[in-house]
Amino acid sequence: MSKVKKAFFCQKCGAQHPQWQGQCNSCKEWNTLVEEVIEKPTEKGWTPPEENTPTRNRPIPIAEIATDKESRLRCPDEELDRVLGGGLVPGAVTLLGGEPGIGKSTLLLQISLQLKKKVLYVSGEESQRQIKLRADRIQAKNDHCYVLSETQTQKIFHQIGEIVPDVVIIDSIQTLQTNYIESSPGSVSQIKECTAELIQFAKRTHTPVILVGHITKDGNIAGPKVMEHMVDTVLHFEGDRNHIYRILRAQKNRFGSTAEIGIYEMQSTGLRGVNNPSELLLTQSDAQMSGHAIASTMEGVRPLMLEVQALVSSAVYGTPQRSTTGFNAKRLNMLLAVLEKRAGFQLGAKDVFLNITGGISSEDPALDLAVVAAILSSHYDIALAKNTCFAAEIGLSGELRPVPKLDQRISEAEKLGFERIITASFKQNTLPKTGIQIVMCQKIEEVVQHLFG
Ligand code: TYD
Ligand code: MG
Repeated sequence: MSKVKKAFFCQKCGAQHPQWQGQCNSCKEWNTLVEEVIEKPTEKGWTPPEENTPTRNRPIPIAEIATDKESRLRCPDEELDRVLGGGLVPGAVTLLGGEPGIGKSTLLLQISLQLKKKVLYVSGEESQRQIKLRADRIQAKNDHCYVLSETQTQKIFHQIGEIVPDVVIIDSIQTLQTNYIESSPGSVSQIKECTAELIQFAKRTHTPVILVGHITKDGNIAGPKVMEHMVDTVLHFEGDRNHIYRILRAQKNRFGSTAEIGIYEMQSTGLRGVNNPSELLLTQSDAQMSGHAIASTMEGVRPLMLEVQALVSSAVYGTPQRSTTGFNAKRLNMLLAVLEKRAGFQLGAKDVFLNITGGISSEDPALDLAVVAAILSSHYDIALAKNTCFAAEIGLSGELRPVPKLDQRISEAEKLGFERIITASFKQNTLPKTGIQIVMCQKIEEVVQHLFG
């Protein structure tokens, strides 16, 4: 093999250095140098068979580029299909990130077994026997699912050449290693080079590739940020490991919306898509409890009823505690300040705990009113009526602001048996006729008056 040319590049300013050093000579930043390949030998890890004419890659008018309309590969898994924007795109590279034990390997093995295609599942973490044991648990069957336990990219490409799969799954990118770089698997330079090789393979052969990516302590995908720029789609699999629900979100999607989410339930026989999440997420008890409020939220195009629970108690220590699960803590502080300033509630000396049940987290501003209602309900220790739900954003002067797609939120609430929805006032009379009572309020004070008299 002819020699591989390598150098060290600063990840901040891009300056090139012949050898590793602690500080970049150019921008003086510390610990930013990473080894990268400049030039590879001619016999590459993977060579496209047709690549022998220099004229192959020339500019062509966009109108002449051929596409097949229905070329996406539909997944039998509805949730994943929706998050991807309607199936796997040929040649697209998808990166699936998530905490250890959340179910990334389970999800991908399940898809490999459900797809009626030739799939190559490459694992650098588990042996073939371990994967088989997992497959037995999942109970799906696909005779064309091949399993390979390998970490060397060149060897993987060799096997791909033998099998010619329709879909390639790599679990995980951090375990892969290429011959061209000496650093250990999982290092920034290895991850970058292996991703680049896989992307090149996917684009040239139009094979969809799915990569699993580990995440770091602060929730980012381990490795260089540039990896997320290189791939077409970045998915995050999240949820509380102690809860049964898992949420699949698209963080970046070149071929679809990033607003969609997929909800799964972890069972003893693998992951099951949840088609009626609202019903499952609401407490099914008849007991009236203070501090509970239901919000009608939207996740992408899907309405989702979420239950907000709040506990307000006298602060024992000097500084009151504010703690949230599933809701933005800064937003909670803002809502408490609004309640204090605009509605006269003395919450400054109170501990406030807030929780969205089911291990779900949401950023929908329509949650604001339900959060405020739950806090006030706990503060007064008066339970809210079970048949009432909320959907409005709250502004800094305590005004209720309308939220988009109100008609869908209302019809979801009606479907689940709610009789009343409290929301901001809106002018247009475009809502279809509903049996549910719509209470429109302009300010928080009106809501308080309405709920607690
Ligand atoms: P895994 O998919 O290995 O997670 P990751 O690849 O993200 O690290 O495992 C997820 C967890 O799910 C594991 O703790 C065991 C559990 N599990 C089930 O509850 N049911 C099942 O059918 C399977 C296969 C796993
Ligand atoms: Mg795994």
